[in-house]
Amino acid sequence: MKQERFSIVGMTHPVTNSNEFLPGPVLLLGAPGVGKGTQAKRLMDAFGIPQISTGDLLREHRKNHTPLGMMADDLMAKGQLVPDDLVNEMVAKRLTEPDTQRGYILDGFPRTLNQAEWLDQQLADSPLPVVAVNIVVPERELLERITGRLSCPVCGTIYNVYSEPPRHARVCDREGAKLIQRVDDTEPVFYERMKAFQSKTAAVIAYYRAHGGRFAEVDGSVSVDAVMESIRATLFRLRQYSGT
Ligand code: AP5
Ligand code: MG
Repeated sequence: MKQERFSIVGMTHPVTNSNEFLPGPVLLLGAPGVGKGTQAKRLMDAFGIPQISTGDLLREHRKNHTPLGMMADDLMAKGQLVPDDLVNEMVAKRLTEPDTQRGYILDGFPRTLNQAEWLDQQLADSPLPVVAVNIVVPERELLERITGRLSCPVCGTIYNVYSEPPRHARVCDREGAKLIQRVDDTEPVFYERMKAFQSKTAAVIAYYRAHGGRFAEVDGSVSVDAVMESIRATLFRLRQYSGT
């Protein structure tokens, strides 16, 4: 493998040739609003692998009025989880697409133990095992992240009116499109989503934590850039990538 100048500790030198790094299947775990989508988009750009967000896929189904979208609509609006078999089937289909060959970032999946066990079976023959990164942010910071979130309907860029505002109010910096707010980004629905997280998804985090070397936690309460560097360094460590 070609020599690269960088140091994982402190990440003093940015990696200039990330194409040599094979990310494989990466899971981003964490409560609503910890920054899974924000970081997945950056990792996608950094490593040239797709983001697979089950929330985004379901919102696309909802927009297109597919049977799955119509079924999921009410549950999502209430902050409840969509049934496992429907979500698993949607993920299975997405994973057959050719852009997933070098790896992918699963954002918001798995969210139940059933989904995690299903994924293990699906990936039993995968050349690289799954690595899971749990993003941790104190709950008191999450409400502001959720109620302040806006996103671009064209490019998907995620903003926050408090912490990551666009240059012009409610207008995407890249596309000039009017930014939109998710229907579930209200205070009451946030608390419902937190309940679903605590009752179903916390067990998934424990499941991957029990896998030891394939699991890590990062502090998601620092700047977006700092979280990104921390996740990137974590992925190199979990994949034992030295760059030499
Ligand atoms: P989903 O879309 O996955 O929502 P979620 O898990 O609640 O997560 P969010 O998208 O709200 O947060 P995020 O972590 O992506 O944060 P973001 O980067 O946007 O799921 C929606 C619904 O779909 C579910 O409720 C369920 O109904 C259904 N669903 C989805 N997957 C499912 C599954 N597997 N099984 C069953 N049902 C499923 O950032 C949030 C805000 O914080 C932004 O404004 C951002 O700008 C800001 N921010 C990000 N990072 C920072 C930072 N470091 N500092 C300051 N601000 C920051
Ligand atoms: Mg998200």
